[in-house]
Amino acid sequence: MNQADLIWMNGELVAWEDAKVHVLTHALHYGTGVFEGVRAYDTARGTVIFRHAEHLDRLYRSAGMYLMDIPYAREELRAATHETIARNGFKACYIRPLVFRGAGPMGLYPLDCPVDVVIAVWEWGAYLGEEGKRRGVRGKVSSFRRIPSDAVIPAAKATGQYLNSVLAKIEAERAGYEEAILLDQRGMVCEGSGENLFVVKDGGIATPGFSSDILGGINRASVIQIARDLGYTVTERDVARGELYLADELFMTGTAAELTPLREVDDRPVGDGEPGEITRTLQRAFEDALHGRSDRYAEWLDLVPGFARHGASAPEAPAPAP
Ligand SMILES: Cc1ncc(COP(=O)(O)O)c(C=O)c1O
Repeated sequence: MNQADLIWMNGELVAWEDAKVHVLTHALHYGTGVFEGVRAYDTARGTVIFRHAEHLDRLYRSAGMYLMDIPYAREELRAATHETIARNGFKACYIRPLVFRGAGPMGLYPLDCPVDVVIAVWEWGAYLGEEGKRRGVRGKVSSFRRIPSDAVIPAAKATGQYLNSVLAKIEAERAGYEEAILLDQRGMVCEGSGENLFVVKDGGIATPGFSSDILGGINRASVIQIARDLGYTVTERDVARGELYLADELFMTGTAAELTPLREVDDRPVGDGEPGEITRTLQRAFEDALHGRSDRYAEWLDLVPGFARHGASAPEAPAPAP
């Protein structure tokens, strides 16, 4: 992780070391924040943010589900993100917008606390490692079940909810695996601690749907579209744990991990223990989309002004919905 010089905080860029909060910040005590994980890539056209509009959309939806009004328009946060990347001089980076209840009245009722907004960026390589992307990682079904939608709101990307992922991640890493796979409350497969999960069997692709309390991953939606465009059948349905052991191929998608194959689950090899052909095909097409090498998905890329390559024609940047 390579540190930035500047962080955008409540409307201005401040030095990294000055981006501080009060200890009575509501979100520190009660997890009352929502956030995004987004990536910008260095492409032949310039620095582009992958599916920026969709990430902003999810940020506003997550905030809305927790009754937080973000005190900036979408277009302001989009421009602030561009400026934060450009002023830090990063051609490629991870982007972390965070909206949280700031210092105000203590107690569980949060609606009288201010809503603070931060956009931080840093240089960050593949979350599960470059080798993990190439060879696949080892996963373990977690003893911690995914948070259910009758307790919190799994469809929101909310900070407090991530204690669930943190517990699963610690358990998996301490047991010697790279990633945890969480089951839902019914015992059906849900997702990784920070990724959605796909199963490939007999040429067809399946992935758990919202009835498993997944987070609706933006990379999940992108890979589903790419797979269908390539002619594969993708079904959103319940996936039983046993299907992980029967699968020909398994892979996970997420902003941090991008598309990472699983080569083992619970000490059982997936297929022949190496990433399979369909995973490889999707991974190549997805990487082409991320890195701006695919004209077909060029509208997914939001060009960061100031980093356009000289003479390159900018792809049509999707304006976030108002
Ligand atoms: C719990 C969880 N599920 C799934 C995902 C994948 O979502 P996305 O593809 O939008 O990054 C993430 C990452 O944001 C996550 O934290």
